[in-house]
Amino acid sequence: METVLSGIRSTGNLHLGNYFGALRNFTKMQDEYKCFFFIADYHSLTTHPDPQILHPNVKNVLTEYLAAGIDPDKATLYIQSDVPEVCELYLLLNMHAYLGELSKTTSFKDKARKNPENVNAGLLTYPTLMAADILMHNADKVPVGKDQEQHLEMTRKFARRFNNLYSVEYFKEPAAFNFGQELVKIPGLDGSGKMGKSEGNCLYLMDDPKTIEKKVKRALTDEGPKEFNAVKPDYIENLFTILNVVSTPDVVSFFDEKWNKCEIRYGDLKKQLAEDIIKVTNPIRERIIDIQNDESYLHKVTTQGAEKARESASKTLREVRQIMGFKPF
Ligand code: TYM
Repeated sequence: METVLSGIRSTGNLHLGNYFGALRNFTKMQDEYKCFFFIADYHSLTTHPDPQILHPNVKNVLTEYLAAGIDPDKATLYIQSDVPEVCELYLLLNMHAYLGELSKTTSFKDKARKNPENVNAGLLTYPTLMAADILMHNADKVPVGKDQEQHLEMTRKFARRFNNLYSVEYFKEPAAFNFGQELVKIPGLDGSGKMGKSEGNCLYLMDDPKTIEKKVKRALTDEGPKEFNAVKPDYIENLFTILNVVSTPDVVSFFDEKWNKCEIRYGDLKKQLAEDIIKVTNPIRERIIDIQNDESYLHKVTTQGAEKARESASKTLREVRQIMGFKPF
């Protein structure tokens, strides 16, 4: 059976981008693959090193994973920092990762530009830690949104390099995966290309219906198309992209037709969009509220997850150490 592995950073509540980029499909994958899903709390330190929010953020992602339908008896659900083996693999992979390639990744350049006073080594080596997460369980498939394609490419490069350097066929080259569909990028409602926590344009799974309605109402629009079959400007295309993932094809083609005939009423479009987003998020939000105070359940899930993840991780590490030439006396 193929192995699937994916993670989400614990930097705040999960948004619609996380859900449609990765999380939604996790729940289908757990029935067909050997799955490892984890909370990337070490990765969160590259941008959010705050002891006051570290644990609450991990708890948020954990409850949101569970509320979205991950079954800890089917998939291995764990916290990255509960599996210290990943740190050693990260160190070992870093010996064969080069400054030139690390400093050229888009996400590194982006973060360094936005936050020039905190260009730390963790940020630079973010892709090596991500590769360690994936190679630790020798995953075949990695469900991610479109923004993570480059990191996946680097993981394949590190895997290939390791195999070549040590003349082995040990690591697989993992592929980005969206359960048979194209990788997606969910845009923001502010006309920007990507919904993201640092962009401040998110619809959160935890948002109540009123908040969602308010945010959708505020989305950028204009006075409408002036000619039949006009090309949609980006900020309108974005609304349709979100409609596409939350609504039925009938609804999408209804509004598409209205657009093409210059009969579109943005008020109606936004009302429908908010309604269909709420249909997705509300059941999750209600389950989050149920789970978040069940400390003994969360304890059980994370203990069981750590144990299963460490079993797989320590086997890989043992083999990697042997391949690299570490020997006991
Ligand atoms: P993070 O927390 O930034 O994103 C988690 C997942 O959500 C997807 N995503 C999106 N997908 C579509 N549209 C968006 N607007 C959007 N925003 C976020 C991301 O692609 C991702 O799949 N580096 C990873 C965390 C990680 C990881 C790993 C993932 C650490 N180690 C190993 C897979 C395997 C990340 O982007 O987290």
